[in-house]
Amino acid sequence: MRSVIDTTDLRVEELRELIDTALDISGDPGKYASACRGKKLATLFFEPSTRTRMSFEAAMYELGGNVISMADAGTSSVTKGETVADTAKVVSCYADIIALRHPKAGAALAAARSADVPVINAGDGGHCHPTQTLADLLTVYAQKGRLEGMTVGLCGDLLYGRTVHSLIGALSRYDDMRFVCISPQELRLPSHIAEEAKRAGAAVEETSSLEEALPELDVLYMTRVQKERFDDPEQYERLKSAYVLDAARMSLAKKDCIVLHPLPRVDEIATEVDEDPRACYFKQVRNGKLMRMALILNLLSEAEKPEKEGLPQGEAGEFRCANPKCICNSERGAEHRYRRAEDGTLRCLYCDERS
Ligand code: NCD
Repeated sequence: MRSVIDTTDLRVEELRELIDTALDISGDPGKYASACRGKKLATLFFEPSTRTRMSFEAAMYELGGNVISMADAGTSSVTKGETVADTAKVVSCYADIIALRHPKAGAALAAARSADVPVINAGDGGHCHPTQTLADLLTVYAQKGRLEGMTVGLCGDLLYGRTVHSLIGALSRYDDMRFVCISPQELRLPSHIAEEAKRAGAAVEETSSLEEALPELDVLYMTRVQKERFDDPEQYERLKSAYVLDAARMSLAKKDCIVLHPLPRVDEIATEVDEDPRACYFKQVRNGKLMRMALILNLLSEAEKPEKEGLPQGEAGEFRCANPKCICNSERGAEHRYRRAEDGTLRCLYCDERS
């Protein structure tokens, strides 16, 4: 069964096809209005969300399909002790495709390994968020006419910001990419993500100064400091307003530098920037719905093919994942599995952390 856990599950050519489909939908939505008639999407959101859940739901309705959803994870069987794996197995009997969001890294893979229908990761803890990346890619492509040859600044919470992790993974496969990671010391990009981007051929630089980085950027990706992922509330308070993009700082940016943000914003982009034609974060929202439509169409048609693409299996053995925020350390009966990374280290199959 083909599922999408991270953007790297989709080949570069497939990303291109999804972008083409999304643009086609945008130009002629009527052509797709019954494309998913008779199909059901289940949205399983174990973490607060409005926009992503509504984006999936709007996407399915615009394809002529139906949506079933858990009213509130707090009232579901999870409170009775059900595992994500069991929930996904059960919901496979009700729906043709599942979109799942969960606070634990690796939850989407755990669900996909037991589901009988495709699972789309709608955000798993601080790990990844591939459909936000699809929205980001379409926005960059629509505004710039290309995805390669770009200097991309990523600013804010690069440690817990799952949208950044997925975006770097996706973009580093294009030629001539340069990432400028702008964050406080405490919220730096996890080293394995920077290393993988470099291995893919991208340049990765780190700085704590937004002002110094701004003049060189083609894309500035602002992020919210992820309050819900901090163990220490005081640390959050200290770091929450580390960066604020305002009109004065925008004057340092190139005339054609675009500003993205996955939303919701707190105070990292002043509302005065909304008037700037380079601000593209509300365009991203619409693009997110279009790309989710394209992805749902793609996965439902793949699911009808007799030959199915498998999920990564990894290996079991002595390996124990050391990440307390990983699903394999919270699901009853979850098996710890690992894969060997290109640098030779063992990584948890679910959350990618080194053991
Ligand atoms: C992002 C997320 O959930 O990771 N938001 C979203 O999908 N709309 C970013 C965030 O919450 O800061």
